[in-house]
Amino acid sequence: MLNIALPKGRLGEKVYALFERAGFECPAIREENRKLFFENEALGLRYFWVKPSDVAIYVERGAADLGVAGKDILLEYEPAVYELLDLGLGKCRMCVAGPKDFHDDLRRTLRVATKFANIAAGYYASLGRDIDVIPLNGSIELAPILGLSDVIVDIVETGTTLRENDLTVLETVVPISARLIANRASFTFNAARIEEIVRALAQEAET
Ligand code: PRP
Repeated sequence: MLNIALPKGRLGEKVYALFERAGFECPAIREENRKLFFENEALGLRYFWVKPSDVAIYVERGAADLGVAGKDILLEYEPAVYELLDLGLGKCRMCVAGPKDFHDDLRRTLRVATKFANIAAGYYASLGRDIDVIPLNGSIELAPILGLSDVIVDIVETGTTLRENDLTVLETVVPISARLIANRASFTFNAARIEEIVRALAQEAET
């Protein structure tokens, strides 16, 4: 059995649909229930739903042979996995955002609230800008409104959250999308099979 970790939620549904179109279906997954893993014995595949931010851990530790994770998670946690394919789904961008009238005062350390401390630190280090990272787990947009931070580093998809909270994109850090990842040892042992899956997904991802 090849174990495949899919991100639970809206992105995961699209990702599974792509696997299905590529010929790796598992009809039981479409049934409405709380079950977390599904097998297609004939194809030798077992899918399971995990929290999107946990996919890379399952794959890195070999509980999953393959998985689909956002580039944001891969950049933030730098798991020791192979990144095999950009699936072109879940497209968004990592941005610096802040109040519309924000001006960076270079005499002061910039306070940056984010769920992505590593990405934020790397980005500002590349600019040579000193920052104070304020790690948060959600509702990041509140930080500059309440004066907890000057700016935020966060994911922007439609821009609605920023707009509705009187914030705007100041800089784009990196484009984000969903990536197919593989456990390193598993990729070596199952190379032919995994390459077949990559080829089929790549063909569907383009169309
Ligand atoms: C992300 C991000 C923004 C929002 C951006 O949060 O942190 O808050 O989506 O999307 P938009 O540009 O389309 O408005 P998410 O919904 O993933 O929830 P989270 O805060 O729990 O991570």
